[in-house]
Order: sequence, then structure tokens, then C-alpha cells
Amino acid sequence: MEQAVQRLGYVVLGVPDLAESVDFYASVGHLTVHDASSRSAYLGGGYDHHWLAIEESSTHRGLRRVGFELSSAQALDEVADRLAERRIPHEEIGDLDGDGIDRGLRFTDPDGVQVDVYTDMLSRAVKPTQDVVRMTEMLHAVWFSADPVAAHAFYAEVLGFRASDWIKRNAVFLRARNNYHHSLGIFRSSPARSGQLDHFCILVESIDDVMRGRNIALRRGASLQKDVLRHAASGSISVYIADPATGISFEFCAEHDIVAPDHRPRLLEASPITRDVWQAGSPGLAKVAPLGATAEAPLAAAAGVSSAGAPAGAGSEEARVADLANSLA
Ligand SMILES: [Fe+2]
Repeated sequence: MEQAVQRLGYVVLGVPDLAESVDFYASVGHLTVHDASSRSAYLGGGYDHHWLAIEESSTHRGLRRVGFELSSAQALDEVADRLAERRIPHEEIGDLDGDGIDRGLRFTDPDGVQVDVYTDMLSRAVKPTQDVVRMTEMLHAVWFSADPVAAHAFYAEVLGFRASDWIKRNAVFLRARNNYHHSLGIFRSSPARSGQLDHFCILVESIDDVMRGRNIALRRGASLQKDVLRHAASGSISVYIADPATGISFEFCAEHDIVAPDHRPRLLEASPITRDVWQAGSPGLAKVAPLGATAEAPLAAAAGVSSAGAPAGAGSEEARVADLANSLA
């Protein structure tokens, strides 16, 4: 099947206080507010109308929707056909005067994630000026699923995503037509955490932008969910900054691989070194970690990293499964 999705377009977050969250993503996330009302705001870092929409809500905190740009109008028709074949309810979306979407569809995936797919989004005439954290792409979103194998099948069969790599069968990285290593990651979790966002990622120009983003975040009082590392799967150099309002984090990354179109997915070991290749050679970290023994806590403590975003009920087997996935991408 052709890859129907060209790239990740946006994520939509529900927050308790709109002004607070807009300030956070502007000052710590370096995003520009492109449009706003009393209950919502659209922010971006490129030409697109938005990469991040924030909606004030007293009941929904965290991920509300994710949007993927399709490769063509024909791809939209084909996705509609596949949704109909599977009897998956879907509705048409698109409001150039509102969300900046031309034509699209909205449906819900097996884990309860609301998904938008669309043909075109309004493009701004100029890119926001950036001289400190220079942004390239809205790159990927990663969320949790109680059954990543089933979630992979859904995204492969309905949207044409291709697996780039697995970590055992507990995490899968899926690529779209742009062939970045992943536009979507799905991590195994407890059923209670299924459908919740772990993080979204913005690709920046270089490691210098990652480090400047990291240092400014700390100076402005933010916490790091994970400090700078390099992932084995994608090659990314990444830092994860905790969003205090939602429990998710956002990632600045550089050097994220573009894989060959015929790349065969690897089945990677669940090791702390898979999480961070710079840990190779560290005493006690070389062996393959059994489920739930990721060395995440000691690493985080050593780096002075907060535990924000840790699943509730830490200590249970389910929480340990979620922790495992959370530490690996
Ligand atoms: Fe990521």
C-alpha cells in the first residue's frame, strides 16, 4: 500500500489555563502564536498555520487530537474508503477561517486517539524569525497503547504507515512518506494509559539548537523529563522538556534519520543503550534489561531530571511496562 500520510501536521492539547500554556510553549517551546481566541490558540514554528493547538478545557487535559497531512486528495478518498470498509465512523473537517484545514476527515483509532487526516493546511507567507532555536519540522508524536501490535496493524492498513523499527514488541516506530524514521511512535502501556500522549517532537537544525533550547528551558524554570541523549533507533540527539500543565513532554531533536524507502524494520533489544547510545560502556548498563528494569530512574536522578510524566501507580507491573516504553524513544 502507498503511504497515504506525508507527515505529522499537528497535535492538539487540552489545558486547564490557556494563557499559562501559551506562555509556556512560547517562552520554553519557542513557538510563535499564529492565531488565538479566548478558548484556544494556534502556535507554530514554520510556515504551517499551526503545529500545536491549545484548547482550554476543565475536563480534558493532555492529548485531544493529532493531525496528519496526506500526500494527495486521492489519498484522502482512499482513506475514506478504508474507514468505510471497516465501519469506522468518520466526519468531514476543514475550515480555512478556523483551524486552517482545507479538506479532511476525523476518526478515532482503536486506542481512543482522535485522528485528523487532511489534504492541505494554510501556509503563512513568512516563517517566524528564529535565531536561538531554529526549527525545521513538526516531526513526530508518541503515544501509549495497551496493544502496540494491533495499533501498528491499524496504522499500516488504514493509513499506509510503515514500521521503521520495533523495540521487542513493546514499541513501534512508524514512518510516513517523508521517510523520517518516525512520524508516529506507539509504546506499550497499561490499558489505563492507552491513548495518552507521551511527547511530541520538533526537529531543529543542529545539536546547538537542542542545547540552547535545553539551557533556556532550565533558566526559565522548566524541568527536563529526559536530558540530552542519542537514540539508537532514529539516531536523534534529543532533549525532553516537561509540560507541567499536561504531564506530557515536548522534544527538541536533531540528526533524526531519514531511512531508505525499502528499510527493513529492526527488532531492537530493550536496553538502556537502545535508549541512549552514549551510555555504552557504562558499568551495569550493558546487559539487556528485563521488562521493568530500564535503569531509567538512576539515569534520571544522576542527571537531575524530574520524574514528571511518570505513570500513576508506579511500582505496579503495568506501570513498569509503561516506564520501559517511556525510556526508549
Ligand atoms: Fe521522540
